Amino acid sequence: MKNIVLIGFMGTGKSTVGRRLATRLGREFVDTDEEIERVTGKTIPQLFARDGEIRFRSEEALVVKKVAARQNLVVATGGGVVLNPESVRILRENGVFIGLTADPEVIYQRVKRKRNRPLLNGPGDTLDRIRELLAARQEAYAVADFTVDTGRHDLEEVVEMIVEYLK
Ligand code: S3P
Repeated sequence: MKNIVLIGFMGTGKSTVGRRLATRLGREFVDTDEEIERVTGKTIPQLFARDGEIRFRSEEALVVKKVAARQNLVVATGGGVVLNPESVRILRENGVFIGLTADPEVIYQRVKRKRNRPLLNGPGDTLDRIRELLAARQEAYAVADFTVDTGRHDLEEVVEMIVEYLK
């Protein structure tokens, strides 16, 4: 069976929805950020701080390659995975893309207390940064086969909408 690949911006709920969806469908759950941390032995902020975004992206591409070679998974991708055309290509070969979205204000509320997202923790206003990045990435997230707004439905509804779509 094809993988179910959750894509979308930071704070749209990919990991939370992915875990619940995997339980609901009796599938294994893989989170690419967690895999990167496991493989490198470093946290995402440490990777960005010590080695920079480019190094992070190459670790991410390696993890995606391994995940894309497997089957039957629910995969929560990091928000930047879809920026890499080769990653999109290999995930697509063996997967269906479920896009999660949320309004910038909703994302801001979800991420503001956490310090685990280097791309949002830089100088300047975080909400502005979210808006800017979302706009820049809109096209990349449009590869989704089916999209759910997680700001307008609760977790169980989101999971059921995805299950229905997959039927
Ligand atoms: C990133 C999203 C993060 C993580 C890294 C970069 C991005 O994952 O991979 O901080 O470029 O959007 P989440 O989407 O799980 O927060």
